[in-house]
Amino acid sequence: MKSVNEFIKAKVKGEKISTVTCYDFWSAKIINESDVDAILVVDSSAMVMHGFETTINAKVVMMCYHVDVVKRAATSKFIIADIPFLEHKKGIENLFQSVDKLLKAGANAIKLEGVDGNLDIIKELTQSGIPVMGHIGLTPQSINKIGGYIIQGKDDNFSEKIFNEALKLQSAGCFYIVLELIPSHLAKEISINLSIPTIGIGAGLETYGQVLVLHDLLGFNKDFNPKFV
Ligand code: KIV
Ligand code: NA
Repeated sequence: MKSVNEFIKAKVKGEKISTVTCYDFWSAKIINESDVDAILVVDSSAMVMHGFETTINAKVVMMCYHVDVVKRAATSKFIIADIPFLEHKKGIENLFQSVDKLLKAGANAIKLEGVDGNLDIIKELTQSGIPVMGHIGLTPQSINKIGGYIIQGKDDNFSEKIFNEALKLQSAGCFYIVLELIPSHLAKEISINLSIPTIGIGAGLETYGQVLVLHDLLGFNKDFNPKFV
């Protein structure tokens, strides 16, 4: 299993990192035998596996359930689990209880969306020995505010905000950052200016790794064929 330090070293050496989402035992078994470096057991499971409209419906208990079954098959892969929407806004003690559950279910790291208002929380987590993956650009948990799954950071002010968020996440101790649906020149700029790796989803080819939703990668959803897949 790759460690946090190996992910960061791979970035420094310019090596690419591959990740996929996974929510169930069967696909975890297949992924465990592949070269994929890490598995994201993330809240898109609410949509893909449970049929909800958005990721807002993900719950800690749901995430723990998926982490647990994935871990049982993917014994040699690094697993990153999502913090469901608003879980980190219900007090730090609640957050630590939820993170504890995810780690005990088998997660090696957690992912938290967004930066505004979250930096102190992220610092508290990283300083407690919990690897945290950041997630900027399109943050689907805020879909009601954003209004649609549309490219983020197209104008200069917004792209500068996203760039600065990446630096802030690095300073807060994140070991890795997901860049979702941003222009590839911005993803490149962020990727070369950080010492931690970036993975992109709909963010071009210049990030250090890519992450795809497994079911999109395999073309299971006939109604959803984004060009980045
Ligand atoms: O839930 C999800 O699919 C994600 C992606 C960025 C992997 O968070
Ligand atoms: Na997610």
